[in-house]
Amino acid sequence: MSHSIALNFEDGVTRFVETRPGETVADASYRLGINIPLDCRDGACGTCRCRVESGDYDGGSYIEDALTEEEAAQGFALACQMRPRSDLVVAIPASSAACKTRAQAFEATLEEVTRLSDSSIAFSVSAPPGLSFLPGQYVNLRVPGTEQHRSYSFSSAPGAARLSFLVRDIPNGLMSGWLRAAQPGAAMQFTGPSGSFYLRPLQRPVLMLAGGTGLAPFLSMLGLLQAGGGPAHPVHLVYGVTNDADLVGLEELERLAAAMPGFTFSTCVAAEGSAHPRKGYVTAHVAPAQLNGGEVDVYLCGPPPMVDAVRAWLSREGVTPANFFHEKFSPSGAGQAEAA
Ligand code: FES
Repeated sequence: MSHSIALNFEDGVTRFVETRPGETVADASYRLGINIPLDCRDGACGTCRCRVESGDYDGGSYIEDALTEEEAAQGFALACQMRPRSDLVVAIPASSAACKTRAQAFEATLEEVTRLSDSSIAFSVSAPPGLSFLPGQYVNLRVPGTEQHRSYSFSSAPGAARLSFLVRDIPNGLMSGWLRAAQPGAAMQFTGPSGSFYLRPLQRPVLMLAGGTGLAPFLSMLGLLQAGGGPAHPVHLVYGVTNDADLVGLEELERLAAAMPGFTFSTCVAAEGSAHPRKGYVTAHVAPAQLNGGEVDVYLCGPPPMVDAVRAWLSREGVTPANFFHEKFSPSGAGQAEAA
């Protein structure tokens, strides 16, 4: 049986390869021209050691010098030996350039532009053949008519017929300016997917913290959870914005909460003059139980000050989450999204 392997490189680029029945991850990668680190190909040197983030596999045979028992128990494996038993997500300890690959380029057609509020625009494009991504990842879109690129996270779940994105409408914003006048059918180009901010297998409760259009990757993650029958552990989202008009996607969140008993969410608005019942930043609206004494995976996507504020708040609370995944973005979508 063939399986899809997401190879995540250190620079955030992700390439997907399909393994043939019985094929190792290394053989599948090289067959497709992706030269992941490799030397002996025999389980002896450890050059191909990588970390498996999700999925099931047969680790094959190797000597202790190449991979210790402890490393194997921690999820490390040897690409030259491992044969997948399911789809896998594998972190490769090298850049995509070092492996002679790069983010894939795709062409798509603009399908729809929807103004969600004075400050937010949603748009969707046709899903090009061959594109796979992990929920939470982003692409670098070329702003049509320019050589400029902007990074946007998918708000649609993997496998959807259309790829959807959320954009903050800012004065003089290159992408939002183009979208204001764009017509369905326009050609678009992007490269990706990229980013290490994606949903890992749920092993404990999850706290999602979204700031502004940082909601997008969470919609993608929640869509995937719903497609999988709902979360195996409680998932709570706190979605904060600056002004009342920035609050979008509520119908979709309500639909997801109704469809998945394990998912709850709340919203808040930072502006003092807001009419919203919950004012302030997301950190003011997390119940202690949602931190679960640190036995929680925290996912955060928002502007840089929000990421710094949440980190400082966790420290003040004396809570060290089991995992803290975050992505900073610029409101304009300019530049590379940052993830850790
Ligand atoms: Fe030497 Fe895999 S290449 S152990």
